[in-house]
Amino acid sequence: MRLFDVYPLFDINVVKGKGCRVWDSRGTEYLDLYGGHAVISIGHAHPHYVDMIGRQVATLGFYSNSVVNTLQQQLAERLGKMCGYDDYALFLINSGAEANENALKLASFYNGRTRIVSFVQAFHGRTSLAVEATDNPKIIAPVNACGHVTYLPLNDIQVMEQELAKGDVCAVIIEGIQGVGGIQVPDTPFLHALRAACTRHNTVLVLDEIQSGYGRTGQFFAHQYSDIRPDMITVAKGIANGFPMGGVLISPMFTPVYGQLGTTFGGNHLACSAALAVLDVMEQESLIENAATVGSYLIGELKQLPGIKEVRGRGLMIGLEFEQPIKELRNRLLHEQHVFTGASGTHVLRLLPPLCLSREESTSFLDKLNKALK
Ligand SMILES: Cc1ncc(COP(=O)(O)O)c(C=O)c1O
Repeated sequence: MRLFDVYPLFDINVVKGKGCRVWDSRGTEYLDLYGGHAVISIGHAHPHYVDMIGRQVATLGFYSNSVVNTLQQQLAERLGKMCGYDDYALFLINSGAEANENALKLASFYNGRTRIVSFVQAFHGRTSLAVEATDNPKIIAPVNACGHVTYLPLNDIQVMEQELAKGDVCAVIIEGIQGVGGIQVPDTPFLHALRAACTRHNTVLVLDEIQSGYGRTGQFFAHQYSDIRPDMITVAKGIANGFPMGGVLISPMFTPVYGQLGTTFGGNHLACSAALAVLDVMEQESLIENAATVGSYLIGELKQLPGIKEVRGRGLMIGLEFEQPIKELRNRLLHEQHVFTGASGTHVLRLLPPLCLSREESTSFLDKLNKALK
C-alpha cells in the first residue's frame, strides 16, 4: 500500500528533536521556528514529558470514559487555575477540529439554532461543521456545504452587529489570532462589541484558541489581551506537546446532559499525562512569560529588517508579510540556513516556535533570515 498523497512534502526525514532543534536522518541540525505547526509548546523531547508519558504507559495507557479518570480531573483543575477559567468545565477530545465540532454542537443544543457566523480567512478544522466554518471553498466537500455559515469581515463592528441583530445566529466562532489566515489579529473594540452583541442576542461566543492559545501569544489565551470572556474556548495543538489532544472549556451557563457528547479516545490516560507534563513545564520554566519577552524582542527586531511589508502577531505567533511570494525564501531558509518556518497563503511567513525559544536562538534566527533575504 502507498500513502494517500494529500501533503506536499519537503524531502526531509526529521528523526530527532530537542528543545527548539530537530535533526534529519542525515544528521543535519535545524532550528525549529515552526514547532510542527504550533504543536510543540514545551520543546521537543523535554525530559519531564518523556518521563511522565513513559511512566504512564507502563502503568495504564488507556481505559474508557465509563470509569473515573482522576488524571482528567487533575488536568481540569490545573488548567482552570492556570488559564483563569476555574469556574468553566472541560470536555476532552483528540484534535482541534473535534473541539470546534463539539463546541458548535453544544451551542446548537443550547439555543436550538442552526446558523453560524465565522470570519473571512478563518480556519477551524476539516470535519463537518468545523470545515463549513472554514473560509476555504477548496476543502469544503459538497456534503459539508449545508448553508449553516455566514463569513463576515474581521473587525467590522457594524456588519457583525447587523448580522447578530437578526436574532437567529446560534454561535459566532472566532480565532484568538487567525493563523492559517495570515496572523490577523482581532482588535479589542471589535471583541468587546462582539461579546456584547452575542450576549444581547443569546448567541454563543466560541473562541478558537487552538493555535493562538496555551501561552503562545504571551498570555494563556490571545483573547485575554482584550479582557473578554467567551462562552466556550477550544484548545488543541500545544495542549499535549504533540500527543493528539483537544479540549473545550465550557462556561457554567451550559448544563451537561449524559450522553449528549462523547468520545472513545478523548481524555485518555496517556494524553492526560502528556497534558499534565506540559502544564508542569509551562509553570516551572515560565514559558508564557518567555513567549512574551522573546516574542516582543523578535517582533521588534523583525520590524527593523528591510524588505518586509508588515510584521503582525503577538508573543511567539508572528506573521511576516512580503510584497513577493515567500516560497523561495522559505526554501532558502530550510535548505541553506536550516530553519523550519511556516507559511500562510503565498505571501506570509509564519513563525510558531516552541515557547522555550531563547533570546540566543531568536538572534540566531534573525541572522539566518538576514542571510536568506540577501
Ligand atoms: C485555529 C485552528 N482551529 C482548528 C484547527 C484544526 O485543528 P486539528 O488539525 O487538530 O483538527 C487548526 C489547525 O491548524 C487551527 O489552526
